[in-house]
Amino acid sequence: MAANEFRAIIVTRTEDETGKRHQSAELTTVTDDVLMDGDVTVAVEFSSINYKDGLALMGKPGVARVWPLIAGIDLVGTVESSTDPRWAPGDQVILNGAGIGESHHGGLAERARVAGTSLVRRPDAVSAVRAAAIGTAGFTAMLAVLALERAGVAPDSGDILVTGASGGVGGVAIALLAARGYRVVASTGRGGELGDYLRGLGAAEILDRHTLDEAGKPLQAQRWAGAIDSVGSFTLANILAQTHQGGVVAACGLAQGPDLPATVMPFILRAVTLAGINSVEAPPALRVQAWDRLAADLDFDLLDGLTEVIPLAGSFDAAERILAGRVHGRTVVDVRR
Ligand SMILES: NC(=O)c1ccc[n+]([C@@H]2O[C@H](COP(=O)([O-])OP(=O)(O)OC[C@H]3O[C@@H](n4cnc5c(N)ncnc54)[C@H](OP(=O)(O)O)[C@@H]3O)[C@@H](O)[C@H]2O)c1
Repeated sequence: MAANEFRAIIVTRTEDETGKRHQSAELTTVTDDVLMDGDVTVAVEFSSINYKDGLALMGKPGVARVWPLIAGIDLVGTVESSTDPRWAPGDQVILNGAGIGESHHGGLAERARVAGTSLVRRPDAVSAVRAAAIGTAGFTAMLAVLALERAGVAPDSGDILVTGASGGVGGVAIALLAARGYRVVASTGRGGELGDYLRGLGAAEILDRHTLDEAGKPLQAQRWAGAIDSVGSFTLANILAQTHQGGVVAACGLAQGPDLPATVMPFILRAVTLAGINSVEAPPALRVQAWDRLAADLDFDLLDGLTEVIPLAGSFDAAERILAGRVHGRTVVDVRR
């Protein structure tokens, strides 16, 4: 391959004669000419498959917003060149979100050109493959833990519920909370199959997610000092209704649905706080804080246990599996393989 060529997974959108749009993705070889504006060029080593990547790779709308687009909302690699004074060739960097894989070329490629502003220096304690295993999912889990802490939820406040427990965000959230001494209850649809795995991450108790996923009363028995929710919809409404006086719920996802069929009762009668989590737009200082805490708090043996590493061409199969709910933990893509 010529020096200016690299492999990339490109998402394209076409329109047929009836005006119907079709989106698809393929692994192909491109040249540096396709790279978008940016002040830092990175030799990418690893990316990962998040739910959003699954949607983009399987031709679903809602993630890619420009076409053609290199997919991948995460990247980990080494700076090749930079006109941003903060970065120099050889620097080890991480980028989660900030529009890559959505409106700017992403990490499922051997090369990326990005804005230096959102890059984070990879902490020495976190290897490149582990940084990708953490990825957007783990970064989001850390942002959610920080949101609970900022609002005063402490290990002695009471039980913390984590929904979507077998997913990427859920798994890392359980490990992070348990490492800090919180008692974690893991809500999952796969307790039979994955109960041991979730207990291994630190869950003290497993809850069947179907106990939360239908319409419930506006106020219910108070069970949670805090919660990290990847699920939304009725599940989030029930969690709010079950949260203690003064408790905090961090909402990060919509695996059940984007709706929130709740009442204001938990807010006005129990002073419950609903904290929104947005990893994509996280400001630079918060990114650095979250990565410092991930480096300090996460048990890397546990992380290795929830990680599968695949080659770039394996991304499509992994995308199909994450959409079908057949993945647990995290899938890292070694883009050089
Ligand atoms: N706010 C942000 O910045 C941000 C960042 C990353 C991700 N997200 C969102 O957070 C969510 C989780 O992301 P992820 O990467 O962890 O995805 P994931 O690995 O696919 O995990 C999602 C988990 O949700 C549960 N689930 C799936 N369908 C469900 C349903 N219909 N009802 C209830 N639970 C269901 C499953 O866990 P069980 O089998 O254990 O029940 C599944 O493993 C996604 O909605 C994603 O888009 C948001």
